[in-house]
Amino acid sequence: MTYLAAPQRYKTTPTKARSKENVKKSIFIVDDEPKIGELFVTVLRRDGFDARSFMSPVALLEHIDQGKKPDVILADLMMPRINGIELLEALQQRKLTVPVIIMTAHSSVQTAVEAMRLGAFHYLQKPVNLEEMRALIDKALDLYDAKKELTEIKNTKRASHAVDRILGESDAIERVRQTIRTLQNVPNTIVLIMGETGTGKNLVAKTIHYNSTYNAGRFMEINCAALPDNLLEAELFGYEKGAFTDAREAKPGLLEVADGGTVFLDEIDSMSHALQAKLLSFLESRTFRRLGGVEDIRVTTRILCATNSNLEEKVAQKEFRKDLYFRINVVNIFMPPLRTMGRDVIHLAKSIVEEFNTELNRHVQGFTAEAEKKLVEHQWPGNVRELRNVLERAMIFTQGNFIDGHNLALAPTEEREVAEPNDGKFRFPIGASLEELEKAYILHTLKVTNASYAEISDLLGISKKTLWEKRKRYNLDDLVRR
Ligand SMILES: Nc1ncnc2c1ncn2[C@@H]1O[C@H](COP(=O)(O)OP(=O)(O)OP(=O)(O)O)[C@@H](O)[C@H]1O
Ligand SMILES: [Mg+2]
Repeated sequence: MTYLAAPQRYKTTPTKARSKENVKKSIFIVDDEPKIGELFVTVLRRDGFDARSFMSPVALLEHIDQGKKPDVILADLMMPRINGIELLEALQQRKLTVPVIIMTAHSSVQTAVEAMRLGAFHYLQKPVNLEEMRALIDKALDLYDAKKELTEIKNTKRASHAVDRILGESDAIERVRQTIRTLQNVPNTIVLIMGETGTGKNLVAKTIHYNSTYNAGRFMEINCAALPDNLLEAELFGYEKGAFTDAREAKPGLLEVADGGTVFLDEIDSMSHALQAKLLSFLESRTFRRLGGVEDIRVTTRILCATNSNLEEKVAQKEFRKDLYFRINVVNIFMPPLRTMGRDVIHLAKSIVEEFNTELNRHVQGFTAEAEKKLVEHQWPGNVRELRNVLERAMIFTQGNFIDGHNLALAPTEEREVAEPNDGKFRFPIGASLEELEKAYILHTLKVTNASYAEISDLLGISKKTLWEKRKRYNLDDLVRR
């Protein structure tokens, strides 16, 4: 009986026999015919693999159960007691994701194809051609490496977005964490995340995605206030070549790119009514068409939405579609503003200090009584984002083990209250960012002149379009109304 196909040329350059860490890859061979096992072991060892043969699947499984995990398994299809197919099942029960190459006689190719359906990587026909075998082993290793890498990336992402990274000991935050855990195994639920700026809406969106069982696809976020309507539509739904003047090539939209994953629509309230209607239709049917396209595309993209304005009020004022509001308000998560958290601010601050201790290699233990008082009393218009910035700065300037009140550079709340300019003078504390300054100045101009946006763009020396973008970006409409 011939075990090998003739002629055989020995290839002197084994390709994938070693991992990046220079550890020999291991291959287990199982065949009830001892000569085959011995021969393959010799050949593969010469190729630089760590090869081992077993006379029966039972012996191989015992070895695996002792903690020895191969990188590839070569298994004969027809063996007494347990056959190749049953071996595959036994491996699956052990949740072992090793590529298995089935070896089979010509007459049983049909069964080998069946084996592939059950998860075998591929099959080799006996008599085995060694070149073919090497090529298959290489391919199996490549695929396995790629899969492993992807799982590793996912695990790191998951770890850095663990639910516990959402800090805070208040009931409100505990409820947020609980909701995210509940959502873990629910596919496709729309979640509406509400809260002022800096309360952690983006953080929550990412945490939902990375902790979901349904995150085979990517996480893509888009700020609906940052783009004019037509661009936003093209970004979301994609377009076919020639759909509009600039569409030189077809481009898939975010809904397609994130298929099997998540699209996070930040500042959803900035969407035009027309686009809101289109989004609603997608949410109802789970299908859409690219701009200029005729084909209905079906995706399983999860939609998360966030807003820092009161959507219910916007619905009442007919600024947001009621039907869409009901559709996206299936599960809602409210991120409380920091100023309502009382002493939980101190817990939160301590956890953030812990994070910075690790990052900056410091050993700050906490706050003096005066600093704690300041933390609780401050209004925190920028919420957790502001708290993080203040603490980072404080840690850099703190010498001892406790952060003192004077290390907390908190801007007096009255002066930061940008919506209340008094006496026509424009005041601002040192340490404010240019963005804060710009936002406050536009608001100030609106109030003092009592004019419309169109009228003040000249006064500010910018185009109406630029002003429109800033109006959206800074959410000025809400601030003016307050
Ligand atoms: N509960 C929290 N625990 C830990 N970090 C938080 C928490 N809330 C917010 N942060 C941190 O504060 C910063 C701002 O959060 P994030 O960007 O998610 O806020 P946001 O609500 O999306 O703000 P905006 O409305 O301005 O977009 C981030 O660094 C985030 O990690
Ligand atoms: Mg955000």
